[in-house]
Amino acid sequence: MTIAFARTSAEVTTLIRLCKAESVILGGVRQIELAEYPEPLALFNIGGQFRLIEDTCTHGFASLSQGDLEGDVIFCPLHGGAFNTATGEPVEYPCTVAVKTFRVWREGDDIVTDLSTGPQPEAEIAGRPDNGER
Ligand code: FES
Repeated sequence: MTIAFARTSAEVTTLIRLCKAESVILGGVRQIELAEYPEPLALFNIGGQFRLIEDTCTHGFASLSQGDLEGDVIFCPLHGGAFNTATGEPVEYPCTVAVKTFRVWREGDDIVTDLSTGPQPEAEIAGRPDNGER
């Protein structure tokens, strides 16, 4: 579902509802397919903070949402490469190219995105330890 959302009187942002927050368990991941984006996405719930990245591994054709999540890191199920879910940066060989990350946040009971890339809104990063990777 797409929702037009005005942050200020001069700015109208299109919000896309991804799912209900309760549908992604703590420490879990869910694949999301959107009409508004050509590639599948992976939505993570890490300690109550949601993160959204492209689901397809940059090393080969594998779904990261089928991999193992350890802390902030998602391990690819095909060759064991890994990515930081906050930054998209590869953290384990053979992955060497970052996956795209998208801004995602909670609006009431829903998880939404505007599909813009970049840092999370302040409310989302407030509980995140600063590991210097941004
Ligand atoms: S396809 Fe993901 S590490 Fe090779």
